[in-house]
Amino acid sequence: MSLILGIESSCDETAAALVTSGREILAHKLAGQESAHRPYGGVVPEIAARAHIEILPALIEQVLAEARLSLGDVDAIAATAGPGLVGGVMVGLVTAKGLALAADKPLVAVNHLEGHALSPMLSQPDLAFPYLLLLVSGGHCQLLFVEGVGRYRRLATTIDDAAGEAFDKTAKLLGLGFPGGPAVEQAARAGDPKAVPLPRPLLGSSDPHFSFAGLKSAVLRARDAGLYRPEDIAASFQQAAVDCLVDRTGRALAAAVGATALVVAGGVAANQAVRGALAQLAADHGLPFVAPPLWLCTDNAAMIAWAGALRFEAGMVDGLDAPARARWPL
Ligand code: KG4
Ligand code: ZN
Repeated sequence: MSLILGIESSCDETAAALVTSGREILAHKLAGQESAHRPYGGVVPEIAARAHIEILPALIEQVLAEARLSLGDVDAIAATAGPGLVGGVMVGLVTAKGLALAADKPLVAVNHLEGHALSPMLSQPDLAFPYLLLLVSGGHCQLLFVEGVGRYRRLATTIDDAAGEAFDKTAKLLGLGFPGGPAVEQAARAGDPKAVPLPRPLLGSSDPHFSFAGLKSAVLRARDAGLYRPEDIAASFQQAAVDCLVDRTGRALAAAVGATALVVAGGVAANQAVRGALAQLAADHGLPFVAPPLWLCTDNAAMIAWAGALRFEAGMVDGLDAPARARWPL
């Protein structure tokens, strides 16, 4: 069994974790930067990168102290190497390289999307390959057929905005605050999902992809019409987004022969309406539904350490020249 130190710094969460290949999370720490970015209504890359530099070393010390371990005890150091805000990615990756060099440990450069894609296995030991994964985050909206570690077949992606981006923009348009996804979900609880007629882009289309830009523009028009309460717009938006996610996922399920489960991961998977509708879809197809606990859905280092553990055990380690990548398709 191997022990991996994981580091995550690709967006606005600074995180470190110690995870074993036996799914044991020995320690995990996360520091959000919401208050630093809130005045700007979104993540400011420069502020995020500076915050990672300030926070990350202390988080790494804390996880080691909490697990009563030292760097010498770990088998490898895994860090997100992209995709993401490249200044932040560089902070985490360079920190990992420095530690790897100092402690003479192998480096595992992890694709952040692979972290999300494998995160459901950390909380669900009996989840087996292959599974159909809906990966819905702030930067991505994809359907992946996950066949094994490092083996991902992309069945669909978004042709414009990611689902989380649509939640964030809706929150901004409605003045609900930052971060947007949880704010929209909260407002939607007090609203009527049928109050505002909104489009469902690509619903029922034979095209496999997602689209959310038209929905976002319709939210803007609904707001400017001055006829609706923000709660009703939020609830109607959330319902439209859920309908699109379910429709596209249902289409992929029909083609995903051999899938053992329907799995959802990424920040938007923290949304209860999304989880509920996907659970129903899986049940309709006679498949188990797997969603990580909420803290494992949004960005964290445990998923990076876990992906690092699986890669390390498969012999997939990286050199100290591993690049930080703003873009890195799975
Ligand atoms: O996976 P994640 O933490 O970071 C990325 O890799 O992008 O996802 C963040 C995204 C944001 O767009 C955020 O608004 C969305 O996930 N999100 C939610 C909820 N919690 C986070 N969207 C809808 N409902 C939520 N409860
Ligand atoms: Zn993420």
